[in-house]
Amino acid sequence: MSARGTLVVGSGFVGTNIARRLAAAGEDVTLASRHRPGRLPDVPGIRWHALDATDPRACGRLVARLGPRRIVLVHGPSDVTWCEEHPAQAVSAHTAAAANLASLAGDARLLMISTDNVFDGSRPDNTEDSPVSPANAYGRAKLSAEETVLGAAADAVVLRVSLVYGHEPADAGKWLNFFAACAHRLLRGEPVPVPQDQWTTPVLVDDVAEVTAAVLDAGAPLPRVLHLGGPDRVSRAEWASVVAETLGAPPQLVVPTPRAGTRYASRPRNTCLSSSLLGRLPATGAVAVRGVREGARDLAAAFTTAR
Ligand SMILES: NC(=O)c1ccc[n+]([C@@H]2O[C@H](COP(=O)([O-])OP(=O)(O)OC[C@H]3O[C@@H](n4cnc5c(N)ncnc54)[C@H](OP(=O)(O)O)[C@@H]3O)[C@@H](O)[C@H]2O)c1
Repeated sequence: MSARGTLVVGSGFVGTNIARRLAAAGEDVTLASRHRPGRLPDVPGIRWHALDATDPRACGRLVARLGPRRIVLVHGPSDVTWCEEHPAQAVSAHTAAAANLASLAGDARLLMISTDNVFDGSRPDNTEDSPVSPANAYGRAKLSAEETVLGAAADAVVLRVSLVYGHEPADAGKWLNFFAACAHRLLRGEPVPVPQDQWTTPVLVDDVAEVTAAVLDAGAPLPRVLHLGGPDRVSRAEWASVVAETLGAPPQLVVPTPRAGTRYASRPRNTCLSSSLLGRLPATGAVAVRGVREGARDLAAAFTTAR
C-alpha cells in the first residue's frame, strides 16, 4: 500500500488550523483526539478519528488503517498550569504519545510541534543552539517528547513554536489563546490585567500552519530542530495595548501587572524564539511570518464583525 494523507494528532487550536491549511492544498487529513472537537474546519478533505495517543494499540490500529505519509504531533496536555499541578501525568502523556507515534512512523515524516518552554526564560532570545533547561513541568514534558521523537523516528523534525494566537469566536466558551481572550474582553469593555514583565515572540496560527506545511513538503533533509517565533519581542502588556489600539478599545482597559501572582506565574520570564534559521532555509525562507501589528490588523475584522 502506498502511503497517503496526513495524520494530525491533536484536534485543538493549533491542530485544526494546521489541518485546514493542509486540506485547502488538497491533502487528505485525519485529525485525531480523544474527544470530537466542537467545530471541525469547514474544508473538504478533513475527517476526525477518536484516538488516545497514549494507547499504543490504538495508535497501531489507526496508523495501519490510514497508512499516512506524514504525521503531525500537536496534542495536549497544553495547559501550562494543569501541567504544573500534574507534572508526572504531563511527562508520561507527552512521552508515551511521542513514543507510540514515533515507533510507527516508518518512512513517514514526523513533525512535532514543541514549545519555547523548553528554555528557562533567562535569555531574551533563543536559537536552535541555545541550551535547553525547562523551568516548568510543561517544558519538561515537551522536552522529553522531543527527545523521544528524535531518538525513535528516522525522518523527524521538532518545530518549536512561540506563543500562538488567532481568531476564536466570542461564544467559544473558553478562549484558548491570549489574543482572542484579550480582544473579546476589551470589546466588552472589561479591564484586562496582563503581565508587564513577561516577554514573548507571538506568532499567528495561520503562519504556524504555513510553516508546518512547508516543513512537511520539504524534499531536502532539514535540521532536526527548528524555531518559529514572530519578528516582534513584546511583553504581554505591550501586546494587549496593540490589540486595544487596533480594535479601537480604550487603552486604559489594559492594566499592566507583575507576572507573580497571576496565572502566568509558572511561565518563564522570556518565552522568545529566533526564526533566523527557518528564514535561511530554501524550504521555509519564503514564508512571511507576521509581526504583532500586522497580525492584529489581519484579525481585527474577524473580531469586530463576526462576534
Ligand atoms: N497554543 C500555543 O501557543 C502553542 C505554542 C507552542 C506549542 N504548542 C503545542 O501545540 C500543541 C497543541 O496546542 P493547542 O494550543 O492546539 O492545544 P489544545 O487546543 O489544548 O489542543 C490539544 C489537543 O490535544 C488533544 N489531546 C490531548 N491529549 C490527547 C491524547 N492523549 N491523545 C490524543 N489527543 C489528545 C486534545 O483533545 P482531547 O482532550 O479530546 O484528546 C486537543 O484536541 C501542544 O502540544 C502544545 O505544546 C502550542
